[in-house]
Amino acid sequence: HKHLIDITEYSDTDLMTILDTARAFSQVNERAIKKVPTLRGKTIVNMFNEPSTRTRSSFELAEKRLSADTMNFGGSSTSTVKGESLIDTVKTLDAYKIDCIVVRDKHAGAPHIVSQASPASVIDAGDGKHQHPTQALLDLYSIREHKKSFEGLRVGIVGDIGHSRVCGSLVPALKIMGAEVVLVGPGTLMPACPEALGADQIAYDLDAILPDLDVVYMLRVQLERIEGAPFPSVREYHRLFGLTKNRERLMRPDAIICHPGPINRGVEFDSYMADHPDRSVILEQVYAGICVRMAALYLLLGGADNGLSA
Ligand code: CP
Repeated sequence: HKHLIDITEYSDTDLMTILDTARAFSQVNERAIKKVPTLRGKTIVNMFNEPSTRTRSSFELAEKRLSADTMNFGGSSTSTVKGESLIDTVKTLDAYKIDCIVVRDKHAGAPHIVSQASPASVIDAGDGKHQHPTQALLDLYSIREHKKSFEGLRVGIVGDIGHSRVCGSLVPALKIMGAEVVLVGPGTLMPACPEALGADQIAYDLDAILPDLDVVYMLRVQLERIEGAPFPSVREYHRLFGLTKNRERLMRPDAIICHPGPINRGVEFDSYMADHPDRSVILEQVYAGICVRMAALYLLLGGADNGLSA
């Protein structure tokens, strides 16, 4: 592969290769090895036109630990505020002979446009409501650390499905790996055609579904993408779909809790569940973010030719 834009272009073997490579890189992140020379001489631009904490910081760390030259760019500090188009911006960056552009943008399809305007490899770091493929990779990595196999694993993705680019990549990624996926949320936060996401089941009652789940993947209600007052209200949402201490009794003893972050405490869960020492893997997901992003960069940019066998 040259790009990582659409996770559906990756097979189960491709995804497993990335996960295995990420596991090898987890040693580097444990700081036993401080840095590897794998991408020395490669130039990577992180173009973030939308806010980010996890994705941006972990891409930057991953690039530095692979010894690439990195440039952070984007948002209101660029000449796009003077009217320069995305395509002209990319062509300008390309004049520096860059090797890779990591793109976050509020517009679905922006990474695809970037890939047409530049010969560099392009990684989608989240585009509008469309996809977030490296998030799906770190989710797979974190789930795999706790569950023996994806085959037959029952994963519930709960909440604001309609605004979720995480769903756009995670549902197909889980299906490619052989898991069963249930989408759970209020009808008002479902997309117009939830079946198109390719899940096995669409459900509207969390309490009825919780006892069947091995992985409970909570989504953030994306208030910034909702016009006007949310329906249900935040309070009502928490009552119906919040993962609370009271609801834990409905969960399997070994069910884990995931969330892509940022979390809204008191909305999609209470602090007891968000910080649950045995169930919550949210900070493990953050850690996995560096490992899978190192693996994706290494595999896309030909690091294998640079002497590191992952
Ligand atoms: N999960 C995620 O993409 O977080 P950020 O928006 O902070 O990067």
